[in-house]
Amino acid sequence: MRRRAKRFTAAWAAAALLCAAGLNAQSGVHAASPEVSGEALAHAAESGTRTIVSAVNVRDSLVAQYGSPVIDGEIDPVWDKARIVEARHASGDTRASAAFRALWDDHALYILAEVTDGSLSMESPLPYEQDSVEIFLDENRDKTKEFSVDDLQFRVNFANVQTIDKGDGSRFYTATRLTDDGYIVEARISLKNKPDNGTVSGIELQVNDAEGAGRIGTLNVFDPTGGAWDDTGLFGEIFFTGKKRGDKSGLNPYDLLNLMKRALSIDYSLYKNPGVVKDAILQVAAANLLGSADVTQEQIDEQYAMLAEAIDALEMTEEAANEKYFTPLPVEYLALSDKPGSIERLSYRTANPDGGMDTKYVNVYLPHGYDASDKNTRYNVLYLMHGMGENENLLFGGPGENRSLKKILDNMIANGDIEPLIVVTPTFYGGKGDIAVFHEELLQDIIPLVETKYNTYAKSASLQDLKASRAHRAFGGFSMGSATTWHIFAHCLDYIKYYMPLSGAGWGLAGGGDAAQTAEFLADVVRKSGYKPHDYYIFSAAGTQDFAYPGLHDQIEAMRQLSDVFPYSSDPAKGNLYFIAGEGGTHTWYWQNQFIYNILPDLFKGES
Ligand code: BGC
Ligand code: CA
Ligand code: CA
Repeated sequence: MRRRAKRFTAAWAAAALLCAAGLNAQSGVHAASPEVSGEALAHAAESGTRTIVSAVNVRDSLVAQYGSPVIDGEIDPVWDKARIVEARHASGDTRASAAFRALWDDHALYILAEVTDGSLSMESPLPYEQDSVEIFLDENRDKTKEFSVDDLQFRVNFANVQTIDKGDGSRFYTATRLTDDGYIVEARISLKNKPDNGTVSGIELQVNDAEGAGRIGTLNVFDPTGGAWDDTGLFGEIFFTGKKRGDKSGLNPYDLLNLMKRALSIDYSLYKNPGVVKDAILQVAAANLLGSADVTQEQIDEQYAMLAEAIDALEMTEEAANEKYFTPLPVEYLALSDKPGSIERLSYRTANPDGGMDTKYVNVYLPHGYDASDKNTRYNVLYLMHGMGENENLLFGGPGENRSLKKILDNMIANGDIEPLIVVTPTFYGGKGDIAVFHEELLQDIIPLVETKYNTYAKSASLQDLKASRAHRAFGGFSMGSATTWHIFAHCLDYIKYYMPLSGAGWGLAGGGDAAQTAEFLADVVRKSGYKPHDYYIFSAAGTQDFAYPGLHDQIEAMRQLSDVFPYSSDPAKGNLYFIAGEGGTHTWYWQNQFIYNILPDLFKGES
């Protein structure tokens, strides 16, 4: 990209710039060749045409200049290089204002936000309803609707509490400081690819203005719709420029600092040999206190490697090994698999509350190699429910689409992590539209439709045959879909053996009762059924920063007390219940997909 940019003539650059600035919108240059404006801009900036750069800023871009600030919440002189861009799009009743600047070096993008806001609050359990700054990045600028491996949404509130909605949080380092009339956020995001003059990425910057326990409005730099969290195509653009011959990046102590932060948050009571990490932390401190004042990047990197190795060397106590720990999804699982499954869309008719019938749809994931004529190869089925405001198309789209969850399933199956299975995405909207009675539609309409059409373990749709095949059926869901899952557990124990409630407690199950009452209610269902602990499994998860975490966590803890019915263990051979706490996780599908990745290998384990 850089090499091509060098060939542009000044006239070319000026045309592209005018176009990007909206001054010549009819020229078509920008639309026909979206790469051009950024490259040309960098070219123009390199040759010192500052006025034109500012013309572009008036409209649709952020310009990052080359330089490495120290991320400590103080505005270093290097920030003077960067142009200030105000967040122009305000929603709601906000009277806050925000000015952003951007810098970059060979490894990272730096954002400075100066927010003016007279009343700061972090009362809300929803992180985006706290006074906070959000950074959205589409590094490769492919503008996909769904966030992909290079895309991220990071948030930090005025008190420097970070939440990660999408992306790898270890890439995020921040410092915040209160000012007389608001706060400052200084942030660093490590980049996946080394940028250069002329690099263009997608970006959005947002300020959430809270008052008391709610968000009263937002400020956005590019997107007036507030939809950037759900569509990277709504982002604006950031141009990397200003690197001169001989310019060097500043030190990167931030990965090491993030690793130390992680090391300090480890619960050492879970490990037999906590000393390895504690020694390593001391060694890092000693190296920097006793060594020369000018630490080199090599020394920092050695300290990082030493500490990372020490963390890897931790050995769990036997008791702690009973807990189920979160494993991040390997990023390569979000790549297209060369053994793709397929998506089919089925329709069915189901009763609505007015005595009529509604037409509804499900999407069905069929694993790679599924062969309708091979009646001897049978497949387990997972029914997976969306959350509030979503629908049956959220996870898989429709036939031909390759959304994240499909890629994860394809890769897990291709890599032998799980046996090939069928995954069905229904919706609780339409029909009776009530999660408390969704089991009727599931048993009468959806399971018969799916399991007589495809090669499953159900010999027929009779209740007797569904019961005989219960070990090959799972139900899971997110948020309100998790609540649905708890209701399904209460009604379908005879027909479904595996349950995966994610980020949602059993709302309304025990007549609005508390966690202990809900647990008792569920235990009662089991006791009346006569099933033994290894006849049913519940694998649950939520992120620790998710507003639904406390409710679900409390319910699981209460169930855990009823160990005759819900013996707790990470090992399905020992127990039937576990809960994964995703450190820092929020109420987003980015996290649910990771939980599904963690739990899938335990569904149908040992069923033949
Ligand atoms: C948006 C919220 C959204 C959240 C989810 C925020 O940026 O403003 O409306 O629910 O992100 O990631
Ligand atoms: Ca992208
Ligand atoms: Ca506020």
